[in-house]
Amino acid sequence: MNKDLDKSTVQTAYARWAPIYDAVCGPVMVKGRRAAAAAARSVGGKILEVGVGTGLSFDDYDATTEITGIDMSAPMLEKARTKMASGRYPFVKDVVQMDAHNMTFADATFDCVVAQFVITLVENPERVLSECHRVVKPGGRIILVNHLYSEVGLAAAVERWAAKKTRSLGLRPEFPFARLEAWAQSNDNATLVERRKVAPFGIYTLVCFERTSAIAA
Ligand SMILES: C[S@@+](CC[C@H](N)C(=O)[O-])C[C@H]1O[C@@H](n2cnc3c(N)ncnc32)[C@H](O)[C@@H]1O
Repeated sequence: MNKDLDKSTVQTAYARWAPIYDAVCGPVMVKGRRAAAAAARSVGGKILEVGVGTGLSFDDYDATTEITGIDMSAPMLEKARTKMASGRYPFVKDVVQMDAHNMTFADATFDCVVAQFVITLVENPERVLSECHRVVKPGGRIILVNHLYSEVGLAAAVERWAAKKTRSLGLRPEFPFARLEAWAQSNDNATLVERRKVAPFGIYTLVCFERTSAIAA
């Protein structure tokens, strides 16, 4: 398996992506984004979007929810703030520049934490998952959507090849589901409740964890 991406590569990449992100990644990822937001709406309440980017997901929420977004990239957040300023998203409470590895929110702040196309490209995915778990309430959910590694066959070979070419773009096609599963297994209070393929053609996978009880001190 390739090394995890480092923060400076990701920050440089998303500063470049910001001006064209909505045009390029909006349509391609829309089904995955919508599936994750629908799963989050079914939990409802206070929702944290980790790696909210340009706020493309705002259209997928409504007044039954209160959205807070964080992202490491100031240029991506600037686009999200422009969307907020349109007045179309009164349910978006705030977007904040923050590293998902070290969130400043108190424990058990949110009913649901969503990360759409993020977990595979952070520097330390297990640490980010543990931070998501810390800030979600007992009984709350962590919902991820991503392209995950195909593991076998031609698709896996293509992904391994593409992984070397796409690192500098802040993309990572060869991240295995086993890592997400192992994180949950190593954590007494995290349960894997759903893993399912999402259209188009099942290229994205939605993964959902539940925080089952308070974390022991
Ligand atoms: C592929 S984009 C996805 C954006 C958005 N979730 C969407 O679906 O369009 C990944 C985002 O994660 C952000 N990101 C990467 N690492 C991060 C970290 N450690 N903390 C916060 N945001 C991070 C990037 O800046 C970028 O905006």
